[in-house]
Amino acid sequence: MNYLRIQGPTKLSGTVTISGAKNAALPLITLTLLGHNPITMSNVPEVADIKTLLKLLSNLGASYTLENHVLKIDTSTVNNTMANYDIVKTMRASILVLGPLLARFGHCEVSLPGGCAIGQRPIDLHLKAMEAMGATITIHAGYVHAVAPKGLKGAHIIFDKITVTGTANVVMAAALAHGKSVLVNCAKEPEVVQLCEILRNSGIDITGIGTSELTIVGTGGKTIDMVDFEVIPDRIEAGTYMCAAAITDSIVTLERVRPDHLDAVTAKLEQMGCRVECSENTMTVYPATELKHVNIVTQEYPAFPTDMQAQFMALAIRAKGASTIDERLFENRFMHVSELQRLGANIKLSGHVATVIGPCELAGADVMATDLRASSALVLAAMAAEGTTNVHRIYHLDRGYENLEEKLRTLGAQIERLQE
Ligand code: EPZ
Repeated sequence: MNYLRIQGPTKLSGTVTISGAKNAALPLITLTLLGHNPITMSNVPEVADIKTLLKLLSNLGASYTLENHVLKIDTSTVNNTMANYDIVKTMRASILVLGPLLARFGHCEVSLPGGCAIGQRPIDLHLKAMEAMGATITIHAGYVHAVAPKGLKGAHIIFDKITVTGTANVVMAAALAHGKSVLVNCAKEPEVVQLCEILRNSGIDITGIGTSELTIVGTGGKTIDMVDFEVIPDRIEAGTYMCAAAITDSIVTLERVRPDHLDAVTAKLEQMGCRVECSENTMTVYPATELKHVNIVTQEYPAFPTDMQAQFMALAIRAKGASTIDERLFENRFMHVSELQRLGANIKLSGHVATVIGPCELAGADVMATDLRASSALVLAAMAAEGTTNVHRIYHLDRGYENLEEKLRTLGAQIERLQE
């Protein structure tokens, strides 16, 4: 297995180009199952999760090429509706094929995704919504069996909790349903907004885009003439590099980024004493003279994103005073705490609230990545630590960060990928 060796402390400088958003590209790839024409998608991040999902679609019968961030995909040849365990178990967002397959073919068998390191990750809200649209759902031998022989029908659906991929799944199912659907308490993440915009631009009657209530008039089972498009920038990758600048007291510019998708992250950096200058698609982070402690509560968009929680915990280690981080979305998203403590962090846990006492001097050590965002937090801390840090199990990182070490090396970091 590979690991990253990082020498710290390090200063950074220069400009980093942000890749397309993994969490936008994933539902947009499954959306192509609703189209009857080949699609070209640009700014697609070439990360492990994207390659896993494309392998799944290929197993279903789709054909594609992915070169230089341009995906050309044709799902007109799809002839299999079983998303099998050996792929779904490696990437739970595979559940995003459920809505499109059910809507297009009237049936599908999707392996239950199972939990992951950060939590149990149920899909009950996805399934309840499909049943409300007339599907019969049974769970057998670890698979969701969904059938709707007469197609799905429009329904009035209220999500008990705000769910990002749940909203995406149901929006895609409703697009081909018979009649109108009204979806209440929807996720408003930019990734969901882009999915809705692509559907609208492809001729689907969808209103309320960007709000928590979406109204969709389905095509009654007819597939759609999808438009080509460019994937939005990855706001979490961008936030991670903003934290890299802040934690190393460096000035760093991000390009090909959407500042308006990062308001909550920018606000917290500025509360800590950093300054962020924005243009239409660039952001420059100026470090604090002395980082101030911060209080963070993770909530759904547009509030502070849970996917930036670990990165800010690393940053808070260097801030003066006691910072609190309240993780409200996932029940087990603090596995980076013990690894950060190995580097010397002073962090106390009480239920879903972590208190970080700083500033703390960090010393390099061997640490282990446990999930995608936790691993990026370890890289950030390593760049502020005195000495050598080895971050193991970086396959977690490769799921969602494209060319992380090349991008950091371009900024001046001393980081290399080695073989265990
Ligand atoms: C998406 O996961 C993201 N993944 C996650 O990013 C992100 O952390 C999460 O949204 C929250 O923003 C993708 O977009 C591929 P949820 P998702 O359904 O959709 C509960 C990363 O690092 N819930 O919005 O799976 C659930 O347990 C990943 O890129 C139910 O109870 O998250 C959680 O507490 C990690 N029943 C809350 O809702 C359901 O049926 C939010 O989960 C669905 C969700």
